[in-house]
Amino acid sequence: MKQKLEEIRASALDTIHAAADLAELEQLRVKFLGRKGVLTDVLRGLAQCPPEDRPAVGKVANEVKQAVADALDARKEAIAASQEAASAAAERLDLSLPGRRPLRGHKHPVMRVAEEISDIFVQLGFQIAAGPDVETEYYNFDSLNTPANHPARDLHDTFFVKPGVVLRTHTSPVQMRVMERTQPPVAVIVPGRVYRVDQDASHSPMFYQIEGLLVDKGISFADLKGLLRLFIQRYFGPTTKTRFRPHYFPFTEPSAEVDISCTVCSGKGCRVCKHSGWLEILGCGMVHPEVFRYANYDSETYTGLAFGLGVERIAMLTHAISSIHYLYENDLRFLEQF
Ligand code: PHE
Repeated sequence: MKQKLEEIRASALDTIHAAADLAELEQLRVKFLGRKGVLTDVLRGLAQCPPEDRPAVGKVANEVKQAVADALDARKEAIAASQEAASAAAERLDLSLPGRRPLRGHKHPVMRVAEEISDIFVQLGFQIAAGPDVETEYYNFDSLNTPANHPARDLHDTFFVKPGVVLRTHTSPVQMRVMERTQPPVAVIVPGRVYRVDQDASHSPMFYQIEGLLVDKGISFADLKGLLRLFIQRYFGPTTKTRFRPHYFPFTEPSAEVDISCTVCSGKGCRVCKHSGWLEILGCGMVHPEVFRYANYDSETYTGLAFGLGVERIAMLTHAISSIHYLYENDLRFLEQF
């Protein structure tokens, strides 16, 4: 009987070791250890053994049973480990594959132009200033020598928030806010949003302006011309011509509009400049003494120059954009070109 048990042990260990998967292993477990299995069968025959042999045979039988159970466990673990290794290998990431590039954003063309323009003045010693978009009529109009009956206050042009409060129609109110908190000399540049009831191919109800203000002793119209010419030649190129045309603004006297030689045809005349050879780009003038009175500046001691330009218009001229609305439709096919 012992002989028989040893044979069972040998064949069980061999087949278990060769088992390929968990299902086969389970079949082997049933075959060797199950209630109707080979070992149970042999042990049933224990009754036929001479009684004095029974303990020894029983001991061997238990050892064989234990050995078979151990072999099953070991094989089970080995199969599980190799399955895990196989599935890990199948799921492995190929780190050498090229990745998807993240989309990279960039500054909006209007902001880029605003920064480029501001930078030119910052290099000349101007400081950046800011004020609120929702502005009082006092700062937007009255303190800029634009009284209540003035045509510039026309209801058709101004967004009213409530009586006395408007969306600023220009960046000029920041002139007054800066002067109220600073003593001359003052040299500021004010990029900001402004709002007007206006909409066509070259007008949007919201647009950007850049305001400039320089106040000191002895500032003259020659300084105004020189400063703006310097800016224009730095921004549009050294061969760009400038032209000052008399104009009217309530808060400057004298006032002018400034044209540059057409950036498309260099002044020969084309569709963009409507065959005039010139493009209007900004308004300017010498600060009105009445404005200084509101600011509590002594207009006998100080003089100043001021100017305001539309950023979109300049962006449109430098990038040959035909309608201001392209700038605000957020169409990436358009914006990605800049
Ligand atoms: N605020 C004027 C406008 O919006 C521009 C301007 C600014 C003119 C400063 C003169 C001086 O048209």
